[in-house]
This record gives sequence, C-alpha cells and structure tokens, in this order.
Amino acid sequence: MKKHLVAPSVLAANFAHLEADFKMVNESEADWFHVDVMDGRFVPNISFGMDIIKTMKGIAEKPLDVHLMIVEPEKYISRFRDAGADVITVHYEACPHLHRTLQQIKETGAKAGVALNPHTPASVLEPIIEDIDLVCVMSVNPGFGGQKFIYHAIPKIKKLRDIIDTHNAPTLIEVDGGVGLQNAEKILQAGANVLVAGSSVFKAENPTKAISRLKEIGGYTFHV
Ligand code: DX5
Ligand code: ZN
Repeated sequence: MKKHLVAPSVLAANFAHLEADFKMVNESEADWFHVDVMDGRFVPNISFGMDIIKTMKGIAEKPLDVHLMIVEPEKYISRFRDAGADVITVHYEACPHLHRTLQQIKETGAKAGVALNPHTPASVLEPIIEDIDLVCVMSVNPGFGGQKFIYHAIPKIKKLRDIIDTHNAPTLIEVDGGVGLQNAEKILQAGANVLVAGSSVFKAENPTKAISRLKEIGGYTFHV
C-alpha cells in the first residue's frame, strides 16, 4: 500500500532562485516535481523547453513529472525523455493517435500519462485504460497557474476511479489545477492518487509545511 503523492508544480516557483526552490522540494515530503510545458498553440502560454528541463534534472532528487500542453507531442517525446522526464503526460485533445503515442512514450522507458481538459469526459479513456500509467484530470483550463479549482472535476475523478477499478488497471489518477488544503481531502476521497500543487505550495508562507500538510491528509492509500 502506498500513500497519495504530492507533486509541486514548478511553474509557480521563483525562477530567479530555482536551485533553492528545488532544494526545498528535495528536502520536503514531496514525491515528484511537476513540470508544465506549454507551446503557445495548444494553450495560450509558453513555458519551459528541453534545455531548462535538463537543468532541472541536474538539481532534482525526485522524479520529473512532465506535463506536455503542446500540439503534436509525438514529435518531441524522445527529446523530453533525454532531457530527464520520468513521467510524460500528453493531452487527449492533442493526440489523434493516442494509443500509438502512449506506446512511443513507454518505449523510451518513461511512464505514460494522458491529461483530460475539463470538458473531456473520463469515458473516452476506457478502451485503453490498461495501457495508461497515469490520468491527469485537469481541474482548471490548462495554460496558467493560480486559477480556481473547477468542482466538476470531482465526479470525473470518481468516474475514472470506477473505470480503473473495474478493469483492475494500475493507472494513477492525478489532479492538476487549483489544488490546495481547501479541496485536497475531497479530491482524495473521490479516488485521486497524485495531487499537483503550484501556488498552494510555492506561494505559501512556509512551502515545506504546505507540502507536509498536503501529505498528512486522510489515510488514502493505494496498491502499486
Ligand atoms: C496549469 C498547469 C498546472 C499549474 C498548477 O495549466 O498544468 O500544473 O501549474 O498551478 P496551480 O496549483 O497554481 O493551479
Ligand atoms: Zn500541469
């Protein structure tokens, strides 16, 4: 049995002191670093590329969970893997040949994730759920940190939990956007395994404590 995971989202870190922020996460109870890649096409914002991810890999002592908010992600998977991504998540809405793209991710040795925008139903993943290592339920419209949690995400998490359990799949459910102490319990109760938290960690007065409080919640465990 494993306790739920916490993945601080680096998008909310202080880029002038990236090394210090990474050290804080390394020394905290956090499990992963969540890294948002945005291309200005799939989402209306641009963030990190491969070079900065390579730099992050050099200072991270925990896995890099790379969330690709880009069109045609299949073109860049091996380069993100080479840069140091441990989990590579692509968007359902950006992948006409999703199953092939997931196989491509797995062939690099990375874990394969699929993110769902708020309007995309959980049921679209049912036919291939056994081949997905992680489903990222977007609880904001992707593109920016610091947005408000969309509560429609809760029934979607429950639906995914049903699908995963029915198929006895090893898939983790990650929730991304507007996650903090005010809603983490509900999210975990609904069946999530990974909490992504940007602002609620890095903008907190005491980020290390914010992480341990997110870890402390509930007694929500899952089989691995
Ligand atoms: C949104 C990103 C999120 C974001 C979360 O497009 O995918 O990972 O960094 O930030 P907060 O926790 O501030 O909503
Ligand atoms: Zn993200």
